[in-house]
Amino acid sequence: MIYLADTANIAEIKDLFNYYPMEGVTTNPTILSHEGKPLSKIVPEILECIGNKMIHIQTISDTSEDILKEAKKYRDIFGLKDNYYVKIPVTREGFRAIRLVKDAGMNVTATAIFTQPQAMIAANAGADFVAPYVNRLDNIVSHGIEVVSDIVKGIRLYGLPTRVLAASFKNVDQIYRVSLTGCHSVTASYDVLIALMSHPMTDRGVIDFEKDGAMLYDIPIS
Ligand code: G3P
Repeated sequence: MIYLADTANIAEIKDLFNYYPMEGVTTNPTILSHEGKPLSKIVPEILECIGNKMIHIQTISDTSEDILKEAKKYRDIFGLKDNYYVKIPVTREGFRAIRLVKDAGMNVTATAIFTQPQAMIAANAGADFVAPYVNRLDNIVSHGIEVVSDIVKGIRLYGLPTRVLAASFKNVDQIYRVSLTGCHSVTASYDVLIALMSHPMTDRGVIDFEKDGAMLYDIPIS
């Protein structure tokens, strides 16, 4: 399973990419709205931090033709290459746009997915990733993990090349349980990712190691 950062905050992205094995950044209009910077300014800043790792940028157009135009525009003005994924919500126009954007040679992440059938149709339309929203499903007394598990099973059963990018997490346990489904990837906020990689017992163990080793480790490292 690979991990992506669901944030457009530059300090968070720098920290995550500096210390942890991150494979990309996902954004959407809501995430961008938290930063108070326009797309034209924030995308180049993100690209500077992530090198050739994946960047997923969501479109906001209403029609499939405009979604295609929007996707091409971002590719061209930001000079994006193979690491660019066009995030397209799975509306009626969105399903059509997935095919158009794929035919134009760009990668697609189908997003705002709440059911297994939506994911299967997006996969058939050619999406490279499908992004089910785990916590938002849990919040409506549905079952985010089960939906992810059903999508993973469907994709395997029919031998589709699409990967599942589980999104919308509020806690570590949701990501842990998603990882048991065979899900290919997750994207999560800075706070959830940091919590995922930390444990107070690890910190406590290191304090003890440092104390016990202080008098014994007599080889200078520089
Ligand atoms: O990537 C999709 C994600 O940003 C949605 O997350 O926390 O707004 O449900 P959330």
